[in-house]
Amino acid sequence: MPVRKDLSFRSGYFGDPAASRALAGLLQDVFGIDVTIMDRLGGSDPTGIPFSWFDADGACIANISAFSLPLVIDGVSLRAAGLQSGAVRPGHRGMGLYRDVMEAALAHCDAEGFAAVALLTDTPALYGRYGFEPLAQHRFAGAAPMGGTAGPVRRLDLGSAADIALLRRLLDGRQPVSDCFAPVRQTGMFLFNAALMPDVRLDLIGEDAVVAWRMAGDGAFELLDVAGTRIPRLADILASVQAAAAQVVVHFPPDRLEWQGEALADTGEMVLMLRMAKTLRPGGPFALSPMAEF
Ligand SMILES: CC(C)(COP(=O)(O)OP(=O)(O)OC[C@H]1O[C@@H](n2cnc3c(N)ncnc32)[C@H](O)[C@@H]1OP(=O)(O)O)[C@@H](O)C(=O)NCCC(=O)NCCS
Repeated sequence: MPVRKDLSFRSGYFGDPAASRALAGLLQDVFGIDVTIMDRLGGSDPTGIPFSWFDADGACIANISAFSLPLVIDGVSLRAAGLQSGAVRPGHRGMGLYRDVMEAALAHCDAEGFAAVALLTDTPALYGRYGFEPLAQHRFAGAAPMGGTAGPVRRLDLGSAADIALLRRLLDGRQPVSDCFAPVRQTGMFLFNAALMPDVRLDLIGEDAVVAWRMAGDGAFELLDVAGTRIPRLADILASVQAAAAQVVVHFPPDRLEWQGEALADTGEMVLMLRMAKTLRPGGPFALSPMAEF
């Protein structure tokens, strides 16, 4: 790491409350996001490792954080890492601080032997130099399947500690929602995203599957994710949550749902980028569930 006047480099300090608060301050100031809400959702991801520059007053000036993001891609389980919370304070931009923390994070990922590193960005031009390539994401649209079997349903509430504990247990023990492309574990981000998406409903079907869904403005049923030890058929999900919709949009590959939809390329501004061998890439259209976005 180069020496930078009046700055010190630190990584892996999540056990230090003052430094963690300083990083939360950087993310609040740059993105307007309050990451401390994770405290009431059971805590932040224990695999997270920040790579940061601090100034002499203890303010966090620049950061990128790496975390474990095990993936299944076309039936193959991969040790992968995600990068998130990349930011530099405005007064310190253009000096190479982001390059410093990116290089430190990627050296860590390489030393750990991660087969893939993933990130989401609205500025893909930043990451090509580090070996990241954009991969198109898709959603899957089609007619709602009929004739499903309804199971008992209970709406979960993120204001309830018991429901958060139940969600954490199901997320920790989940079966990947797709064999084509899915995170194996993404517990903290699922809860964080759910807390930031007030229109998302979390319905427990039976005792072992939580469905994250919402109704789109055009009346379609949008399935965002299923977290559980089993993945119910789409027809059974629709019958259970009693969604009256003729059309369905699924935001992950629907190979486990006993239903097929037309793959439509995503046109959103966030781009998924992966740094991995071309041979390991998904062969068909895929998407990262919005509940797993980071
Ligand atoms: C993006 C951001 C982190 C860059 O920080 P920075 O300290 O200016 O970056 P650096 O000085 O280390 O520049 C690293 C390289 O990226 C390039 N770069 C910086 N901003 C860029 C941009 N918006 N688009 C393309 N390249 C960019 C620099 O030219 C430099 O290239 P070089 O290595 O060839 O010299 C900072 O502008 C920021 O915090 N922006 C707001 C939050 C954000 O967009 N975060 C990234 C989201 S994924």
